Formats: sequence, structure tokens, C-alpha cells
Amino acid sequence: MTTRDQILSLFRARPGEFISGQEMSSRLEISRAAVWKQVKVLSELGFTIESKHSQGYRLIDSPDLLMAADLKRDLKTEIVGCSLVSLPEVDSTNTYARNLAENGAVEGTVVIADRQLAGRGRLGRLWVSPGGVNLYTSIILRPDIPVQQTPHLTFLSAVAVAETLQELCHLQAVVKWPNDVLVGRSKIAGLLNEMSAETEKVHFVILGIGINLNMRADQLPTPINYPATSVLIESGKTVDRCLFGQTLLEKLDYNYLEFRTQGFGPIRARWEKLCNIFNRKVEVDLGKTIVRGTVVGLEDDGSLRIAQDNGELFRIVAGDVRLLDV
Ligand code: BTN
Repeated sequence: MTTRDQILSLFRARPGEFISGQEMSSRLEISRAAVWKQVKVLSELGFTIESKHSQGYRLIDSPDLLMAADLKRDLKTEIVGCSLVSLPEVDSTNTYARNLAENGAVEGTVVIADRQLAGRGRLGRLWVSPGGVNLYTSIILRPDIPVQQTPHLTFLSAVAVAETLQELCHLQAVVKWPNDVLVGRSKIAGLLNEMSAETEKVHFVILGIGINLNMRADQLPTPINYPATSVLIESGKTVDRCLFGQTLLEKLDYNYLEFRTQGFGPIRARWEKLCNIFNRKVEVDLGKTIVRGTVVGLEDDGSLRIAQDNGELFRIVAGDVRLLDV
């Protein structure tokens, strides 16, 4: 945690109380000038902090900002979130996390930003990332698995996102192979996993997750394949972004520990229950060609098995799936 987050943690631990600059400086082992500087930064971020010469500083009010100090508080995880970086603004959390990972960041490091200036989606698309409304996060994992198994981690995060939307927001979220989470026919979340590996060795995987939480209709991106939506639009309710973030990190942690001990099986079973395309007619855009058929299952490597109308089986590794029977 940054010094700023440590100061916020002190305030959160003693609501309504003045804490002297002297106490903060000795607890955090920084100068009083450094304390003052970080209090000023917090004020600039929108925190209302009262300062009294004889008593110190007191937190009066907080903005709706995702801060590591708040996300870390009572977070029940073993790996995911062991180190947490929150940023008011970044180009892309995936790019930032990759940089950290290349410089040795530990497994489980989480990067969360309030706003992304160049949020990245699949196929070189832009991920619209305004501030103050959504969740943009990237998690660094260092799994001891062969490169061919890394797609399993996409299923792991899709399950965590869909289950969080169901349990916390009571939305009928479904997973769409392989990278999307939908509510009804609209996209509410997207996943962008990236990795660094050489031959058989995986150095790290970045799980990039973007979820539209409190975005209003006028903030939504122009639809490409699917219309976009948000929790606010679907449920009419504003989500507590910090609580959503914590729940998601806890589910990711649970899924990852399960994956490490039991392999892909349990995640795959939960993903299949959350998926609404089995035994349905689909069209898959492979870029150059289009395949039509019925989805009959998932291969062990996470690719999709389609039975074409002539009975021939087709294995899809990457493509855009559209339901035909709706
Ligand atoms: C997609 O559906 O195209 C994937 C979207 C992934 C967006 C997330 S937001 C957090 C992380 N940082 C990025 O730049 N992209 C991912």
C-alpha cells in the first residue's frame, strides 16, 4: 500500500477522530511534511479532511473512489490482493500490471484504476472506461501450468464475474464463450487475459477484467457485436464499487486456489452451468469464414465443439459467437 493508503487506513480505523501529524509520522515512519503532502493529495482526490493546529487531521467525508486501503480492509483472500495498487487514472491497468510483473511483482498483485485513458479490449478494440462508475482491474498470476492450459484462467475469471453479478446484484448474468459476460443479450463485462511465456514456461498471466457497474445509458460505448449495458441500467440500483471489487477478488481467489489443487474440472462445470449456448444453434465469426452449427460442448483446452449441420465436428479456438435461435 502507498503512504496515502496507509493514512487513509488510519482514518478509517478511527472514524471521526483527530489524529496528530506527529502520530502519523511516527507510525508510518515518514516526516511530518510527508504526512502533510499526502493529506493534501487525499484532499485533491476529493476527501474532506479537517485540519486543526493543536489536534491534527480528521476525515470528514470520502468521495466514491476505489482506494487500496478500503479494498484491503477485511479482504478475505490468500493470494489475490496480497498486494494492491489503486490508481485514480491510468492508460490501461493491463499495461500497468504487465510492467509490474516484468519487474518482479508477486503473484496475486492487483491493479485497480478509477478511470482508464486507453483501456484495451479484445481484437485491438478500445474499452470505454470513464471515471467514477465502473471497475477496471488486472490481476497478476504466476501459475505453474503448461502454456496450453492458460485459457482455463479466462473461464476462471468469467465464472467469478458472473457469480458476483448474480449474488451481489441479483442479475441473471451468463457467460459467453470465451471472454464476455452478458445480462440478457447485452454485454456487461469483458475479459482480456494476456501472458508472458517462453516455450513451456509461463512467467505470468494478467487477468484483465472490465465491468460496467454504475455507467449511465449515455456513457455506454457504441455497440459492435452486442449492445452494452451496466448494473445500474439492468437493476436501477447503484452498486458499491468497493464491495463489488472485494467480492470479485474473493471469488477469483477461491477459484484460483481450487484450480491449483483440483485442475480445470470444477471451474469448467460451473462455467457450463452459467453458459446459455449449449445445444443451441450458433454462428461463429472466425474473421475470414463463418461456421454455423450447434454447440455440443467444451474441449479440455477450453475450445468450443460445434456440430455442423452436415454432422461434421468443428473445434473453435477463437471467434465471435452469435446465437441464431433467438
Ligand atoms: C473485451 O471484451 O474486449 C475485453 C475488455 C477488457 C477490459 C479490461 S478493463 C481492465 C483491463 N485493462 C484493460 O486495458 N483492459 C482490461
